[in-house]
This record gives sequence, C-alpha cells and structure tokens, in this order.
Amino acid sequence: MKLVTAIVRPEKFPQIKTALEEYGIQGMTVQNVHGYGQQRGHTEVYRGAEYTVDLLEKTRIEILIEDAEAQSVVGVLVSSANTGRAGDGKVWVVDVTEVVRVRTGERDDTAI
Ligand SMILES: Nc1ncnc2c1ncn2[C@@H]1O[C@H](COP(=O)(O)OP(=O)(O)OP(=O)(O)O)[C@@H](O)[C@H]1O
Ligand SMILES: [Mg+2]
Repeated sequence: MKLVTAIVRPEKFPQIKTALEEYGIQGMTVQNVHGYGQQRGHTEVYRGAEYTVDLLEKTRIEILIEDAEAQSVVGVLVSSANTGRAGDGKVWVVDVTEVVRVRTGERDDTAI
C-alpha cells in the first residue's frame, strides 16, 4: 500500500475532492495546515524591523491506496490542483507496511 500526501491550495480543495471522488477513492483525511515552499513567503518591514511572512494556509490531503492505483491518484491530484502559479503545492508518496480496519480487523489491501 501507499500513502499519498498532497499539500494544495485551500480554494482548490472542492474541485480536487470532486475529482478524487469521481476517480473512486475509498477515503481521505483532510487538514488545514500552514507551510512554505521554495519562495519562503516574502519579507516585510514593520516599525523598522524586517520580518518574514512565511507560513501560508494550505490544505493537506492524505489517501491510503493500493500500490497499483497510486500513480493514478497522483495524476488526479496534480491535474486538479494545478493553476500554473507558484504555491500550487506538492504531492508525495510513501510505502505503507500495514493497514487495519478497526471495525473488522481486515488488513492491508482489503482494509483500504
Ligand atoms: N520541501 C517541503 N517539505 C515539506 N512541505 C513542503 C515542501 N515544499 C512545499 N511544502 C508544502 O507545500 C506547500 C506548497 O508549496 P509550494 O507549492 O509553494 O512549493 P514550491 O516548491 O515552492 O513550488 P512553487 O515554486 O510552484 O511554489 C507549502 O506551503 C508547504 O506546506
Ligand atoms: Mg512555492
């Protein structure tokens, strides 16, 4: 199994959610988060002191998925989250060694 994590623009989330549902994912976890990428926000001067506004609001999406479907889900995320502007976000994939459905005790692919 894989865990696909995406950090996206909050305003794009409804469209991304629809695209994921149309693809047929079984579940997702969503959080509002703060972060920065390679631009590191921007620097402002306030009362003579320079400081950096570097934490922007983003939405984090986590999806557990079977190995064979991971790249398709990455494709759905990237195409639905893209605006072409800096700050569109990032998607990454990690291996998952164990998944358990708490209600039934089912494991791994059948627990997704
Ligand atoms: N290296 C990283 N590690 C962890 N989280 C990251 C990393 N890069 C980006 N993120 C997360 O993704 C969000 C969006 O990043 P962003 O789209 O600005 O990435 P970027 O690499 O700067 O690309 P772009 O140049 O298109 O803006 C960040 O606010 C942060 O939450
Ligand atoms: Mg950026």
